Amino acid sequence: MRVFTICNHKGGTGKTTTVIHIAAAMGLSGHRTLVIDLDPQGFLTRTMGVNPDTCSDTALSLFDPDASLWDCDTVEMNGFDLLPSSNRLTREMRDLNKPTDVLWIREAIERKADEAAYDTVLFDTAAAVTVYSLNALVASQYAVIPVLPEYQSVVGAEQTYQTVAMVRKRLNPELHPSMFLFTQVDERKRLHSAYRSYMRKKYTHRVLDTIIRTSTSLTEASEDGETVFDTDPQSKGARNYANATDDLLRRVEAYEEGNATTPSNGQLVSSTSPPETPSLS
Ligand SMILES: Nc1ncnc2c1ncn2[C@@H]1O[C@H](COP(=O)(O)OP(=O)(O)O)[C@@H](O)[C@H]1O
Ligand SMILES: [Mg+2]
Repeated sequence: MRVFTICNHKGGTGKTTTVIHIAAAMGLSGHRTLVIDLDPQGFLTRTMGVNPDTCSDTALSLFDPDASLWDCDTVEMNGFDLLPSSNRLTREMRDLNKPTDVLWIREAIERKADEAAYDTVLFDTAAAVTVYSLNALVASQYAVIPVLPEYQSVVGAEQTYQTVAMVRKRLNPELHPSMFLFTQVDERKRLHSAYRSYMRKKYTHRVLDTIIRTSTSLTEASEDGETVFDTDPQSKGARNYANATDDLLRRVEAYEEGNATTPSNGQLVSSTSPPETPSLS
């Protein structure tokens, strides 16, 4: 089973949109996929038209000494299942202050039946380092950082990259270095192209080749529980996310095969020493 955290310490970078559409694309290609909404604001849950008050389990169910992810009731969406966010996540966060409180979800995943019910689990996270986003990274093998090619989002992405490196070093050696996915790209904007070049130069193969362009179909799709694959499968948004999912899966397969190079540029995938954070201006 592959576990992904989608994270960026900055808000509005397309995390939730990315989780929904990668999950739907994976579902369409036959992967049994579960989305866990760990953002206390629960935008993904609301976007999918789910009211957590009517659900017997939420992401909070995983924070229990005997919890098993595999016993949780999930909500069936078109292409994936959802374990929704809870209104109580914010309140409960105050009590989750011990160092071991970052381990709850990993343990809840490990308490599983012989055969996992899912091929893929995707965590949506809030735009901050919280006990919930750390739980997600501690339970994951892969981190994807959606990044809008603009100043604040790039700074957030680089800080997130460092957080992932820290989690890998201190808490979860199975976590691979982050992959970046450009979202909401407007190819007419020179600033976008400058930030894309900067990121590609610095992070090379860790930036996915595929980009997600600005697309009204993605904004429109995210209001009634449907994804763009339901509402407008021929649209730019649907094609971009389908391609990004293929790109992501190719990288993951290369990691799994122990292939330390990427086909695009043949550079070595170094799993240590992240580059220095630059001073962007
Ligand atoms: N590629 C895109 N094109 C147009 N709008 C987008 C795109 N990706 C996201 N959005 C919109 O931008 C806003 C922020 O996206 P969201 O996925 O909620 O970001 P985050 O979860 O990082 O805060 C939402 O209103 C969403 O519909
Ligand atoms: Mg979000």
